[in-house]
Amino acid sequence: MNQVTEQAVLDQLKHIVDPDLRKDIVTLGFVKDLTIDGGDVSFRIVLTTPACPVKEAFETEARQLVGALDGVRSVRVVMDAEVPKGRGISGNMALPNVKNIIAVSSGKGGVGKSTVAVNLAVSLALDGAKVGLMDADVYGPNVPLMLGLADQQPSAFNGQITPLEAHGVRMISMAVLAPADKPMILRGPMLHGIVRQFLTDVNWGKLDYLIVDMPPGTGDVQLSLAQLVPVQGAVLVTTPQTVSIADVRRALKMFETVAVPTLGVIENMSYFVPPDMPEKRYHIFGEGGGSRLAAEYNVPFLGEVPLGLEVRESGDAGVPVVIAEPDSPQAKAFRKVAEEVARQVSIEAMKPELQIVSRAG
Ligand SMILES: Nc1ncnc2c1ncn2[C@@H]1O[C@H](COP(=O)(O)OP(=O)(O)OP(=O)(O)O)[C@@H](O)[C@H]1O
Ligand SMILES: [Mg+2]
Repeated sequence: MNQVTEQAVLDQLKHIVDPDLRKDIVTLGFVKDLTIDGGDVSFRIVLTTPACPVKEAFETEARQLVGALDGVRSVRVVMDAEVPKGRGISGNMALPNVKNIIAVSSGKGGVGKSTVAVNLAVSLALDGAKVGLMDADVYGPNVPLMLGLADQQPSAFNGQITPLEAHGVRMISMAVLAPADKPMILRGPMLHGIVRQFLTDVNWGKLDYLIVDMPPGTGDVQLSLAQLVPVQGAVLVTTPQTVSIADVRRALKMFETVAVPTLGVIENMSYFVPPDMPEKRYHIFGEGGGSRLAAEYNVPFLGEVPLGLEVRESGDAGVPVVIAEPDSPQAKAFRKVAEEVARQVSIEAMKPELQIVSRAG
């Protein structure tokens, strides 16, 4: 019987190519802890997104490829994920424990930013990631309501605020720090101070993703965030309407000027599926606006989320639709969008490695 070598195993695994990063998993450094004990081979494959769509295919392929080697008796593959730290270049305050900051923004109000931010955060947590959600809508904070945390108050520990937690997501919001019945009048510098406090005075712990729910428009909060910290990317929410799309265009430009890459466009309220006629789709606000916009600006289209009573009802009840009605078309759409966001984040993050790899090879 042949002696199985490390090189032989790696040569086999080199046949597995990551479709997004377009390199093989050995070159990308995804194969870890390879041990060979006689004919028993074991290793981990560490992917860059928690709910990688190719996970199962990779596992099967790895098992078959290595199993086909002469002398191999058993193959043990452990599939794992490690979200890479983004290389955002905006702002210079380092947050060493936070790997990726993602801003959920839009040009216009009421298009579903907060709903998207909440369901995105919970979906990523369901996929196994460590997730924080920062409600940066200082004037109209409604994330706590959507997460069922509206009547809770965060505690302090060692001079830092401990974020509240629901559905696996750590959250901070002005709504749980300031009494709701007091109107807030804040000038630019004060807003800047609040954003800074949310970032530095909150004990977020280790996070794969910090999702930031932005106020509507292109104002001080957006600029403060970008000036303070490296933001890995912005996702822009729109409805299919042209009015809204013109506003998204403005948001896209703004992020460009502060060196925040646009990870992509999410179209919300895309169409309505009548519960009694699930085969029907009504395009109430028009059709295809989000994907056209994404194509025009050469940014990824991250998906569309249909209108549904479940979304609003579960939001009002404090249990996001991805938890309350996981089989609804809306929940499935949100889960898919989250997968796509994670995918774009790791593509952005892996860009330098890809350059080094291509220079070397
Ligand atoms: N896909 C959807 N289906 C049904 N209702 C939705 C959907 N998305 C959002 N909504 C509802 O639309 C309303 C506005 O959503 P949301 O508060 O998330 O928007 P927003 O963009 O954050 O608003 P603002 O600009 O005020 O912050 C909410 O009542 C929400 O429940
Ligand atoms: Mg909002």
